[in-house]
Amino acid sequence: MKPYCKMKILVTGGNGFIGHTLVRQLLNDGNQVKVIDIKPVKFTHPKLEFVKKSVLDDIRWEMRDCDMVYHLAAELGVINSDKKPLNTLAVNIDGAERSSNKGRQPEKPRKHLWCF
Ligand SMILES: NC(=O)c1ccc[n+]([C@@H]2O[C@H](COP(=O)([O-])OP(=O)(O)OC[C@H]3O[C@@H](n4cnc5c(N)ncnc54)[C@H](O)[C@@H]3O)[C@@H](O)[C@H]2O)c1
Repeated sequence: MKPYCKMKILVTGGNGFIGHTLVRQLLNDGNQVKVIDIKPVKFTHPKLEFVKKSVLDDIRWEMRDCDMVYHLAAELGVINSDKKPLNTLAVNIDGAERSSNKGRQPEKPRKHLWCF
């Protein structure tokens, strides 16, 4: 049996380059997947829930029932950091903090994986 199947997994940035591949694989493995992204996921699946939201918003509600969080939401590239440096910093630093357990009391132990 695969180690991570039949779990409820949150993927921030699940519409991105890495995120959309990961989400498809997690769904294929039988997990229930919730995606938080500012851009919509381009496919549907009975076990996929999409929440259009920024990781800079309060995402505690979305995190509350998840066994695992993959944090992939990010602002990438020189153009973004040159044109919108503060937003880039906020998404990449504050977003990582908000998607962590810090300052929260999760209902159950949760695994976190961040990608920078
Ligand atoms: N692509 C690579 O080869 C690679 C290699 C090593 C590490 N990484 C890291 O993996 C992570 C994801 O990379 P990627 O290539 O999938 O990037 P990507 O730009 O394709 O995806 C990032 C996703 O985050 C979303 N996003 C941006 N701001 C957001 C916000 N405020 N709230 C919610 N979602 C938001 C975007 O809409 C996008 O879907 C990054 O941290 C990156 O540095 C990527």
